[in-house]
Amino acid sequence: MTVKKISMAPQGPEFSEVVQGYWRMGDWNRSAQEHLSFLKQHVEIGVTTVDHAHVYGDNPSCEELFGQALALDPSIRNQIEIVSKCGIELVSDERHVNHYDSTPSAITKSVETSLKRLGIESLDVLLIHRPDWLMDVDSIAECFGSLKQSGKVQHFGVSNFTASQYALLQSRLDAPLVTNQVEINPLNMGVTTDGSLDILHQNRVRPMAWSCLAGGRVFSEATEQIVRLKAALEQVATELVGNSVTIDQVLYAWSMALPSKPVAIIGSGSIARVQAAIDSLKLKLSQEQWYRIWVAANGYGVP
Ligand SMILES: NC(=O)c1ccc[n+]([C@@H]2O[C@H](COP(=O)([O-])OP(=O)(O)OC[C@H]3O[C@@H](n4cnc5c(N)ncnc54)[C@H](OP(=O)(O)O)[C@@H]3O)[C@@H](O)[C@H]2O)c1
Repeated sequence: MTVKKISMAPQGPEFSEVVQGYWRMGDWNRSAQEHLSFLKQHVEIGVTTVDHAHVYGDNPSCEELFGQALALDPSIRNQIEIVSKCGIELVSDERHVNHYDSTPSAITKSVETSLKRLGIESLDVLLIHRPDWLMDVDSIAECFGSLKQSGKVQHFGVSNFTASQYALLQSRLDAPLVTNQVEINPLNMGVTTDGSLDILHQNRVRPMAWSCLAGGRVFSEATEQIVRLKAALEQVATELVGNSVTIDQVLYAWSMALPSKPVAIIGSGSIARVQAAIDSLKLKLSQEQWYRIWVAANGYGVP
């Protein structure tokens, strides 16, 4: 099964229906040539959108590692859509603390750093990584306007924003924000009740879903909640058509079943697991199966 392209928002960009995340690429311990081969392999099967952030990885950053791979075959740039994020400032000296900064100078500096590291002229999408409680939406709108005009960024979105933060920023912009990238998995269901998916659905904007596998915790931890959840996932896996459905595929299908149609971001560096994620696009959970996973994760039934 290969992946089709979908529109993220009215006037928004086209993404592949699942996205490859590059947060963990520093842990993959690969050469630039090996990173390039992995990139080419997932592009070949249709996963053309990649997710980065200014703060991913340290010395070298994930964007630098990715840029080194791209430099080996610059023709790949035109076959992919690159998302990156700004707004988190990590500091290393003891007298200061990590903080958020979405002032125009911080956003612009972050974009210029990302472009330099990646060795590209323009980001397809820039997201504000986390809501900055000091954000001045009028100045962000102005900054987005100049980044768009200069050609450094094509589209803008947000990540981890509440519905009201999303609406507030959107109210100052001429073009729709193209996504809100949020955590979605049965161990973190806040977005199903806090309205952040509803406002996207209302505006026909696709969410991006991070950590659909709860960062791998479902496989590596054995808390009471995870044992209960895993049993339900295994049971549902055996009920789905095709006898080789795995629990990671059930988890992807669970997140993607939400009516706002989240676009899953794959966190694995294994091409077999990328293929498994793609194959989960064809899985359809029944209403009861979806809620069985909800009940197992919560430890109580629906009210
Ligand atoms: N906007 C935000 O605030 C935010 C926050 C976090 C992440 N993100 C984005 O979302 C992407 C995905 O997040 P994530 O990495 O947390 O995703 P995830 O899919 O929940 O977790 C990936 C981890 O699970 C492991 N894994 C996958 N399948 C497994 C299996 N069958 N058995 C055992 N382990 C398995 C992977 O290891 P292997 O590599 O060995 O397969 C990897 O370590 C990131 O790359 C990043 O782009 C965004």
